[in-house]
Amino acid sequence: MPAGGFAGPTGNGGTEFEAKITPIVIISCIMAATGGLMFGYDVGVSGGVTSMAPFLKKFFPVVYRKTQDKTADSSNYCKYDNQGLQMFTSSLYLAALIATFFASYTTRKLGRRLTMLIAGVFFLIGTALNAAAQDLAMLIIGRILLGCGVGFANQAVPLFLSEMAPTRIRGGLNILFQLNVTLGILFANLINYGTEKIEGGWGWRLSLGLAGIPAGLLTVGALLVVDTPNSLIERGHLEEGKAVLKRIRGTDNVEPEYLELVEASRIAKEVKHPFRNLLKRRNRPQLIIAASLQIFQQFTGINAIMFYAPVIFNTVGFGGDASLYSAVIIGAVNVVSTLVSIYSVDKLGRRMLLLEAGAQMFLSQVVIAVILGIKVTDHSENLGKGYGILVVVLVCTYVSAFAWSWGPLGWLIPSETFPLETRSAGQSVTVCMNMLFTFVIAQSFLSMLCHFKFGIFLFFSGWVFIMSFFVLFLLPETKNIPIEEMTERVWKKHWYWKRYMDDYEGVAAVTKGENKNGHDYEGVAAVTNGENKNGQEGKRMLSIWKALLKVKIKMGTIRDLILLLSCKLETMGSSPTRT
Ligand code: BGC
Repeated sequence: MPAGGFAGPTGNGGTEFEAKITPIVIISCIMAATGGLMFGYDVGVSGGVTSMAPFLKKFFPVVYRKTQDKTADSSNYCKYDNQGLQMFTSSLYLAALIATFFASYTTRKLGRRLTMLIAGVFFLIGTALNAAAQDLAMLIIGRILLGCGVGFANQAVPLFLSEMAPTRIRGGLNILFQLNVTLGILFANLINYGTEKIEGGWGWRLSLGLAGIPAGLLTVGALLVVDTPNSLIERGHLEEGKAVLKRIRGTDNVEPEYLELVEASRIAKEVKHPFRNLLKRRNRPQLIIAASLQIFQQFTGINAIMFYAPVIFNTVGFGGDASLYSAVIIGAVNVVSTLVSIYSVDKLGRRMLLLEAGAQMFLSQVVIAVILGIKVTDHSENLGKGYGILVVVLVCTYVSAFAWSWGPLGWLIPSETFPLETRSAGQSVTVCMNMLFTFVIAQSFLSMLCHFKFGIFLFFSGWVFIMSFFVLFLLPETKNIPIEEMTERVWKKHWYWKRYMDDYEGVAAVTKGENKNGHDYEGVAAVTNGENKNGQEGKRMLSIWKALLKVKIKMGTIRDLILLLSCKLETMGSSPTRT
């Protein structure tokens, strides 16, 4: 677990440490921008190039012939149904999903900076292979390398940002990552719009090759910046960690934050098997929420639009130019609506945004399905100009709702609900689930479009309906709750999830009154770390023995007791002051 991970310095219940917004913090924002831009660019670029005739002609001649042959007996909805074409888009996400597990290890052992550097190198090689691709194999290998880059970047960049950021701007910075994803998508759409016009049919090479810009920025940035103090301290470089902390906070008064990072790193190290720990009953609510949010985020159908908007618009009768043009409009709506989220997420709350967006997405998808159902049949794509514009407006309505809800909140909520000890493992599972379901959608959407036809939009609207009920009943509000107080103030109070919190009792009871988080490891640490707020060693021993009598002897708690006693012994052999 990264010491601190997304953890804030509010661990002791809302303390704000002294911090200025320094140039080095601004550089870290640029890092996020390039990591997010890279991910977004990869999402956005594939839809455009797969709708370009020269690209199809070179790599997917079967699809090319189908799109050209107006007399062919295939349905409009099936023109692009090709496993190879879907593999081009989806291979990236499959690779990213596997890379996430390695990235979780390198983030912990090598640090965030080196993990970002690894991501940048993957991106650069992948981009070069793609831009120079001579055959399908080269194209797919390039996409796989880009996917490895995404896996490493999406694990390390958000952690890097959260650890660099002063507490008061951490939430905003988190959504800033998503803002950069949307900028990357828009950038890709604009490039595709321009390169499609290039005579000679090599525009797609430029589209794929320009990914080198964000990739290069990420690589150079990773070489220039220092690692986070959390990571340095976690890896034993205490003095360097402290020096970096002073630089990034712009003050010499960093002792309280430094001590908290040392403590957080010590606690995190006690958890030997972060993934096993994640499976414990008390972590189940957060795990279920994080996994469900990723599945739901992808089953809103957003990437059907992001990957395949130009293809969909072609399918329903727009020309190549109009298709790409519409994709640019959608990309811009996506960016602007993300700003709405940054502005309102801490005012209106997460639930309000998700519920409002649920209704907006449901309605727009149903109306799109009705229009396409009436107007676009298997062999006639007679969506007139008026209806064409209406469909684009409805798609924009849908995308804007996604952009202020499931887009950013799918990433934000998991990052703020896990307790410190499982935060990094939780982040890995989050990224992994997201990539898995992005892959599922990317790989199956064109076939689904072929079989479900306009019903594809009803399919996704059904999911939006279900996820809105999930939010209504099962998603707790996390607005304005300090990150380390989630267990006490959110999970233990929730009408359903509180039943999973029962194994926080027991050892945690020992530390009641000292540790309002009721967090067992932190509780143990608080008791045994010799931090002795009141220095009453005897009182503490008494409360430990009282708790030992109270604790039910069952398998799970035996381990906690052993841990408690061993920590106690360790403390008795060390100085009572916190160093
Ligand atoms: C999702 C991506 C999606 C993007 C669209 C992100 O939150 O994870 O899959 O393409 O939003 O803006």
